[in-house]
Amino acid sequence: MGRFFQISAVAFTCAASFQSALGDEARLSALVSQMTLEEKLGQMSQWSVDLSEPGILEKLTAAARAGRIGSTLNINDAAAMNAVQKAARESRLGVPLINGQDVIHGYRTQFPIPLGQAATWNPELVREAAAAAAREAKSKGVHWTFSPMIDIARDPRWGRIAESGGEDPYLTSAMGVAMVQGYQGENFAACAKHFAGYGAAEAGRDYNTTLIPETELRNVYLKPFHAVQKAGVMTFMSAFNDLNGTPATANTFLMRQVLRKEWGFNGFVVSDWESVMELTRHGIAADLRDAARLGITAGVDLEMVSTAYLDHGVELVKSGAISEELINDSVRSILRVKERLGLLDQPFTDDKGDSALLLPETLALARRAATESLVLLKNKGARLPLEEKLPKVAVVGPLADSHADMLGCWSCVGKPEDTVTVLDGVRALLGNDRVLHASGTPSDVSLDKSGFAAAVEAANNADVVIACVGEGALLNGEARSRAFLNLPGAQEDLVDALAATGKPLVLVVFSGRPLVLARPEPKADAILFVWHPGTMAGPAIADVLFGRETPGGKITATFPRAVGQIPIYYNARNTGRPSTTENVGETLGTAEHPVGYSSRHLDVHSAPAYPFGFGLSYTTFGYSDLVIGQPDAGGTRQISVRLTNTGKRAGSEVAQLYIQDAVASLTRPVRELKGFKKVTLQPGESTNVTFALPREELGFYDQQSRFVVEPGVFRVWVGGDSTASLSGEFVLLGQSGL
Ligand code: NOJ
Repeated sequence: MGRFFQISAVAFTCAASFQSALGDEARLSALVSQMTLEEKLGQMSQWSVDLSEPGILEKLTAAARAGRIGSTLNINDAAAMNAVQKAARESRLGVPLINGQDVIHGYRTQFPIPLGQAATWNPELVREAAAAAAREAKSKGVHWTFSPMIDIARDPRWGRIAESGGEDPYLTSAMGVAMVQGYQGENFAACAKHFAGYGAAEAGRDYNTTLIPETELRNVYLKPFHAVQKAGVMTFMSAFNDLNGTPATANTFLMRQVLRKEWGFNGFVVSDWESVMELTRHGIAADLRDAARLGITAGVDLEMVSTAYLDHGVELVKSGAISEELINDSVRSILRVKERLGLLDQPFTDDKGDSALLLPETLALARRAATESLVLLKNKGARLPLEEKLPKVAVVGPLADSHADMLGCWSCVGKPEDTVTVLDGVRALLGNDRVLHASGTPSDVSLDKSGFAAAVEAANNADVVIACVGEGALLNGEARSRAFLNLPGAQEDLVDALAATGKPLVLVVFSGRPLVLARPEPKADAILFVWHPGTMAGPAIADVLFGRETPGGKITATFPRAVGQIPIYYNARNTGRPSTTENVGETLGTAEHPVGYSSRHLDVHSAPAYPFGFGLSYTTFGYSDLVIGQPDAGGTRQISVRLTNTGKRAGSEVAQLYIQDAVASLTRPVRELKGFKKVTLQPGESTNVTFALPREELGFYDQQSRFVVEPGVFRVWVGGDSTASLSGEFVLLGQSGL
């Protein structure tokens, strides 16, 4: 056993809170003080490991034993990880490694992609899903996930919108906090990424430049990060992007000024994959030595994959280019997280094989999450739900029976063979005999139409057609940006061919982003937007299609009518010449239409196809009796409405509260989400829904980066989406400032 363990046994026994008790800090400092510079730089280095690479374990254990490595990613094998930890314990100071993995929406059991999880508007469910994922991952020797991704995403061309909570900072904060609580409640570290502004990539092209004024950065992009920091997230990841001329990974303002100084963060920051090395490509570092200097100076504590710190750290300190104090701070932060996870005392995983994976209760949770993530976009003539006694149902389309595509992007250790497809799910409900199937075209992106005839034949022989179309898993996630957002491949032609049969047509649309559904939408009787629902996709979708469950999901990113509208998001500013309902034509088709001198396009309706917060149900809901209370002593107002299920079925509704600061020193969004509640009501049932609106939620960062709450009129809306019409207002009295 290394010397470190003797020290720890004597001096430190109690479990730490993350805001570290003094005793823990003394333990960390004692450890840092015994380390050589080389050992410190080892702590600051993370290797990506492919266990199938010959000799890798020997290499890894040798590095661990020599104290030259602090972290790994991609080891999903408890026995291998234990071997590495054993070697680390045998090192001079016995400091174990922390092993990370992209556990983005589940581990072996896959939950809906994060954009789908956000569509549940159910943070408690999201928290439970994260906790279940953590339990599975921990059983395989993983200590830390690179999740939640809480980048605000206003551009569906950006493939990583799939990993986000969508366009709204309030909702993204709630989902991010829920995930952090879920993971860390299992003693499994979370990572807030990508710090910061990564989602604002120009043209929605992944890794592209971002230019975000400081007011917008603080009022929109940084908000979810601040929320998870307050919730105790243990790590942050510095982003790939260039932010206002300084790449995030070299951004002292972000990581030293905001994160550490203003917010008081004391966990560690990991770079993104080789993003320290990429500082040379950004043209801000002359070489790797310079890149290491910039990364360490800016506050990136752990270097993922590239080896600039290891290769140049010693010389940088010896030459005085960076002070050893910076290195000590980074190492202390890394050790703090290891200490909090208990790794310093017990680094091994109880290897129970696969026994913690795919447990029945985890699959049940995945099914519930998938069900709640589904969004009904259209239901002409109440075509859905379908009757279970229908004689024949055609389940067609390239995604109807595509196991891998149920998982979605970043499914990592998820396995296609664990998944249940829509075809499986409908067959399980109706039996094999009544379900006809043909894929129509081999994959989502294929242009091959030779299977159309079989799909049309199935449709002709059925009473209803369920067409499973959209994006497969490979069209979204990292580096999967798209310039066109229509159904890819031959699928729009397939929908036309199916519609031409005259059979009732239900589209089940898979996707990792809002799509432009302008062409298929008029052909469909109903559209159920299902994202990528994960392992239990099939049963969840079948339950909703056949009315065993009522859909209640709502979109968290605006669906454009045309790519040219992007970026289009609900919490935009008004402009001096807003597009009003008076000058909006429903059927604008040509450039000749008079639209006035207002902020809109000539050739497309100014409203989106589906607004933020939108989603239908099999029942309907009514809102009335908006009451805005007086503030209590702490400045919090209660705002309540009467919510009634006005339809004939039980269902869940997400009641949403929006506000607008009518006149402020900085132009403010036309609406901002400030509260939401998901409520289940029986037919005819009513309830009062009350939101607490704290005074801080009325504030914003002004041009001088001061957080201010300015007195004056605030408008309020409550309803089922961001176009809610039930409104009121209140006047905030008092002085500017908080
Ligand atoms: C690059 C991605 O940007 C990041 O989100 C991910 O966690 C790392 N690679 C590790 O796989």
